Amino acid sequence: MAVIGLGTVSVVHLAAIDKLDVELVGVSEGRYRDHRLLLDELRPEVVHICTPHDQHVPVAIDALERGAHVLLEKPVAHVLGEADRLVAAAKDHPALTVGVCLQNRYNLASVAAKKLLASGELGAVVGGSGTVLWHRDDAYYDARPWRGQLRRSGGGVLINQAIHTVDLLQWLLGEVAGLSSYTGHFASREVEDTVTAVLDHAGGARSVFFATVANAVDSPVTIEITTERAVLTIRGDLTIRHADGRVEVITERRADGGGRDYWGASHELLIADFYRSLRAGEPFPIDLEEGMTSLRLVDEIYRQNT
Ligand SMILES: NC(=O)c1ccc[n+]([C@@H]2O[C@H](COP(=O)([O-])OP(=O)(O)OC[C@H]3O[C@@H](n4cnc5c(N)ncnc54)[C@H](O)[C@@H]3O)[C@@H](O)[C@H]2O)c1
Repeated sequence: MAVIGLGTVSVVHLAAIDKLDVELVGVSEGRYRDHRLLLDELRPEVVHICTPHDQHVPVAIDALERGAHVLLEKPVAHVLGEADRLVAAAKDHPALTVGVCLQNRYNLASVAAKKLLASGELGAVVGGSGTVLWHRDDAYYDARPWRGQLRRSGGGVLINQAIHTVDLLQWLLGEVAGLSSYTGHFASREVEDTVTAVLDHAGGARSVFFATVANAVDSPVTIEITTERAVLTIRGDLTIRHADGRVEVITERRADGGGRDYWGASHELLIADFYRSLRAGEPFPIDLEEGMTSLRLVDEIYRQNT
């Protein structure tokens, strides 16, 4: 396998593959080596794409055209039209897998909540909320200017940070049938720093969503889901408060220092599962279509606010 884009997030990819029976044959870092040279000369079977948002689809298509499976960092693309190009290219290569790094679906808390909700034992879902209160200052944008450039990132807090929470809300509460939203630019940047949305899920539940990087500190992301028989709170750990007074806690794995704490500890699980799926010849759960779901919601929110 090979890693393309050796910036901040690549560290967790390299750490994860180090623990697997996988050979790293090369890396490509934009300024030093063209990724097409790497693909042509080293012919990796799998390519991890850890580049800025506007460099996801061109690199992914190049990899598919050379016969490599692709593990793509989120979001699928900086804009929906670009992502659609990848969807078309992937259809031309049905034997190749494209996976998307929405690693929070692998959090123990997310998996346990999904299983409990699907089991029906807590009754129907009444509604939910998702809150992302994070801090990103000028130094964050100055360090990687693409993050603040609309034409390269596609947006701010929503597409870059809170896409994980939007994804979990739709994954846990069901497909979003309609939404209504506002975005805010409290700091004078090209990209938004604050978003609020009301999501109406197909099953009838409603969730509210608030995300900002204008908070003074990084608070743990919080997702709360109320069902007929319990309230589930994911805030790192999953706490289940049953209507009969019982309280259960599912403890989350802790990040081991390989990446930033707020990325969570699940890149490793997702990457291991990606290789397990490839070896077993099974579909990878977060395929391109799954990755597109949150990008379509992000696109809808941006379209409502331009
Ligand atoms: N899943 C997560 O929780 C998570 C966390 C952080 C970042 N990310 C995502 O990872 C991606 C990268 O983010 P980052 O913070 O590491 O960015 P970064 O700017 O630190 O790193 C990107 C690197 O890619 C290189 N690059 C650009 N174009 C290239 C090309 N065509 N070929 C080879 N290298 C190229 C750049 O020089 C840079 O070093 C983004 O999509 C981001 O949203 C995901």
